[in-house]
Amino acid sequence: MRHLIDILDLSLSEIDDLIHTAEDIVAHPEAYEAACRGKILGSLFYESSTRTRLSFESAMCSLGGSVIGFADAETSSASKGESLQDTIRVVSGYCDIIAMRHPHDGAALAAAMTAEVPVINAGDGSHNHPTQTLTDLLTIHREKGRIRDLTIGLCGDLRYGRTVHSLVEALSRYPGMRFILIAPPALRMPEYALELMDRSGIEYRETDNLDEAIPELDVLYMTRIQRERFPSEDEYQALKDSYILTKDRIRPAREDMAILHPLPRVNEIATEVDADPRAAYFRQTKNGKLIRMALILKLLSEKEGHFQLIPENAAKAARNLCRNSRCITVHESSVVPYILKKSSRDAVRCLYCDNRIG
Ligand code: NCD
Repeated sequence: MRHLIDILDLSLSEIDDLIHTAEDIVAHPEAYEAACRGKILGSLFYESSTRTRLSFESAMCSLGGSVIGFADAETSSASKGESLQDTIRVVSGYCDIIAMRHPHDGAALAAAMTAEVPVINAGDGSHNHPTQTLTDLLTIHREKGRIRDLTIGLCGDLRYGRTVHSLVEALSRYPGMRFILIAPPALRMPEYALELMDRSGIEYRETDNLDEAIPELDVLYMTRIQRERFPSEDEYQALKDSYILTKDRIRPAREDMAILHPLPRVNEIATEVDADPRAAYFRQTKNGKLIRMALILKLLSEKEGHFQLIPENAAKAARNLCRNSRCITVHESSVVPYILKKSSRDAVRCLYCDNRIG
C-alpha cells in the first residue's frame, strides 16, 4: 500500500504525472466527476486548517466520493486519551483513504504504520507538508512554464515552516535550481534540510537580507512566522515583523517574478501587493484542490507501492531517544521509536522527525 508521508515518497516522473492529471482535470472536469464514486475520504485534522482540509474535502466531492472526519481534535476521542495509532486503526475500517494533519513531527508516519488504507500527510508539526509542495510545484509549473533553471527565494520562518522543508526536498531534485534562503539567524532552515541540499549538490546561499535578494529571483516564496511553534511568546514577538513585502519592496524585482505563499498570511505580504499580476498566492490555493484530486486518484488506484516504512538500517532504539520536544515519539508512548542513519555525514536521525540523535 502506498502512502504520502514525505515528498520524496514520489519520484519525479510521478510528480510529472500528477501535474499532468491536474491539467487534464482543468480541461475535462466531467471525465473525473464519478472517478471515486463509493469511495470515502477520512479527513482527520488534529490542528487548524482552512485551505488544506477544505481543498481535500472539495477534491473528494468533485471526484464523486464522500468525506467523513473531524476538524478539531477536541471533538475526537483523542480528547479522551485515545492514541493516534488506535484512532487510525479504527478509522481505517470506515474509509478508503486518510488525509491527516497533526501538531507533532512524525505523526503521519506513525499513523501509516498502523493504517490499513493509504495515509496522506497534510502537515506534521513543523516537519513536512508534502501536499502543499505538490501545490507549489503545480503553481511554479503554471506560472513559470517550467520547473528547472530557476532562482527561488524562500523567505520568513524557515525553521518552523513545514512547507519550505518539503519544498526544498522536492526542488533539490530538479535541474538548475538555485535557492536563496532568507531568514533571521534564529529562523534558519534546519540542519537536515541543508544537508539534503549539500548532498544533492544544489546551489544555495543563506542571508537575512530580502531587499538584496529580490532582483535575482524568479520565484519569491513568502512564509508566515509560525507563532504556535515558538517555545515562548517573547521570542515570537521579537521576530514577528521580520519581513513585510510591500509594493515598494518588489519594485526592483523581475517583471515576471512569481510571488507564492502557502497562506494563511498575517502581515508578511501587504494587501496592496494582491493586485500585482505577479501575486500568485490565490491562484496557488486553487491549484491545491486540483493536485489533491490527482493525488487521491493515484493513491486509490495503486494497490502496491515501493514506500518502505522501516528502512533496512533503522534500528529499534530506547524510548524517548529523540530529544525533539515536538516529536510524536515523545508525545505518544505507543509509537515505537526508530533511529536511522540518514545523511552522507552519517548523522543518526529520528525516523519520524529527522532530528539528530546524540
Ligand atoms: C501552511 C501550513 O499549515 O503549514 N498552510 C497551508 O497548509 N496552506 C502554512 C502556515 O500555516 O503558515
